Amino acid sequence: MGVESIVVSGRDAWLKAYARGDSRRLTLGLLDAVVRRLDIEALRPPPHPGGGAAKRIEARRIAELAALGVRVPRVLGEGDSTLLLSDLGTTLAARLRDAQGDPVRIDVLTTRVIDAIAEAHARGAYFSQLVPRNITLDDAGRVGFIDFEEDPLDVMALPQAQARDWLLFAFGMAKHYEGRTDALAGLLSVALQRAPDVAAHAGRVGRLGGLARALGRLGRSARQVAHSILVVRAATVLPMLLVAALLWDLIEDGQLELVQLLF
Ligand SMILES: Nc1ncnc2c1ncn2[C@@H]1O[C@H](COP(=O)(O)OP(=O)(O)O)[C@@H](O)[C@H]1O
Ligand SMILES: [Mg+2]
Repeated sequence: MGVESIVVSGRDAWLKAYARGDSRRLTLGLLDAVVRRLDIEALRPPPHPGGGAAKRIEARRIAELAALGVRVPRVLGEGDSTLLLSDLGTTLAARLRDAQGDPVRIDVLTTRVIDAIAEAHARGAYFSQLVPRNITLDDAGRVGFIDFEEDPLDVMALPQAQARDWLLFAFGMAKHYEGRTDALAGLLSVALQRAPDVAAHAGRVGRLGGLARALGRLGRSARQVAHSILVVRAATVLPMLLVAALLWDLIEDGQLELVQLLF
């Protein structure tokens, strides 16, 4: 896939070309089995069709979100597997990088974006991959949303899809709140308290927490021993092994790899 910035009639636009579907079908299928078994519907991976199918999903989702009054790009043109989209401004990821080391500015950005997500959810909207690089803020401070080539409602209901949005958002924001995760949790809880059913679905990821803590408490070599024991038992406890391996990834390398696999 390629996304290219171009100028159309003097205005910034984005040409998005959709590559063929990805080759992680087996991994995604295993993950799906694991999270279903743990009854965490909100973490089920939606299918990633790629190509023309992905383009059609994105065009449809943009139309649905626009109809709900959510700020999304306008479709300026399209080909078989390309869309030409209007520019919505700078990504939240870039704004957070600029604000690095300035917690007050970071909290202002976060609060503004959380309010926009909560307002969209209240209108019945849900997103796809709600991480900082898929959220925009223009110079007037208006919050926009991009990147909709998969549809979570293919595999879950609306409250779970909204819970998934908050989980992805929290994962994506965590690195900007190192040492201040309480502040992030505080800002998120204000929004989640207004949507208790959504919060309940999001809270189910707590089921992964015990395992993460158990692995995290072990020293490095102890963890390697634990890992090899798990490998030996793989034939019988494959789902748990997979979760352990993913959490291993989380603990050893930071969060992104886990998140990329899960979503
Ligand atoms: N309409 C848009 N307005 C502003 N930036 C955009 C827009 N579309 C794409 N971008 C930029 O291009 C990047 C990739 O586009 P995106 O739609 O998220 O595709 P991908 O599936 O590759 O993540 C975004 O993170 C953002 O920086
Ligand atoms: Mg993106």
